[in-house]
Amino acid sequence: MGYKTIIFTVDGPVATLSFNRPEKLNAINPELLAEFSQALEEVRSNAAIRVLLLTGQGRAFIAGADIKHFLELDPLSARQMAVKGQDALFKLEELPIPVIACVHGFALGGGCEIALACDFIYAAKNSKFGQPEINLGFNPCWGGSQRLTRIVGKSLAKELCLTGRFLDAEEARVLGLVAQIFPEATFQEECRRAALALAAKGRVALESVKRVIDWGADVDLRTGCALEAETFALCFTSPDVKEGVNAFLEKRQPRFQS
Ligand code: COA
Repeated sequence: MGYKTIIFTVDGPVATLSFNRPEKLNAINPELLAEFSQALEEVRSNAAIRVLLLTGQGRAFIAGADIKHFLELDPLSARQMAVKGQDALFKLEELPIPVIACVHGFALGGGCEIALACDFIYAAKNSKFGQPEINLGFNPCWGGSQRLTRIVGKSLAKELCLTGRFLDAEEARVLGLVAQIFPEATFQEECRRAALALAAKGRVALESVKRVIDWGADVDLRTGCALEAETFALCFTSPDVKEGVNAFLEKRQPRFQS
């Protein structure tokens, strides 16, 4: 399908969805949100895709929702806008494959929220994260207040959302938002290398890890551990376990089938 506000490419097992309004630092307007959501459907229905990368064209990942549109909102349409974005991010989070947010430049507001809904974030050295909605007179609305709190805790999440201040890549890494930082010059290459390494792992085990960590984060420890035993058992429905273990014993690289 042809898109205007995103660029969606599939190269072998790795799909890349790149936000494409560089003149507006990829600010998310309704069209972009709809195309993003549509592309996620494409990812979900294409079994050849094993890893998804999210990136931004130009000098930012995403500088937030398109601010111009907030002037058109009343309370009802504001709620609709919040739920629409939240639905898209649940769709993103619930993909069965690993999704990496590859953040360079700004990831603000909705951009930060999209990154937080990915499985993890790789950041270029020049990246900046923040929830500056407070400066516009409202709170984050695409899950930022909730996902950020689950990562950094209540106190820091409040400090970030109340002040709207930006974190640089290193502070975001120290707080647990960012998994790894790479130099700008080699950033895309490093992200692709990481994606290919993930794509070579077994699909069943990847999905099990992703699901059990997501589900477990929202339940008590005993229930989480029970879920872990179930996803572990599920892994043994796949030939990948025999292949992984035999490859270790035979001192060779595994070739996973799932
Ligand atoms: N919505 C709409 N347009 C945006 C935008 C947003 N969230 N973020 C940036 N833009 C636009 C700017 O208006 C500008 O457009 P113009 O050239 O037509 O005037 C263009 O993108 C470049 O941004 P600019 O502000 O000139 O770049 P900068 O490097 O000086 O500043 C930021 C970058 C990110 C600090 C600044 O653009 C900013 O504060 N953006 C808003 C961030 C925000 O509040 N996000 C949450 C929204 S809910």
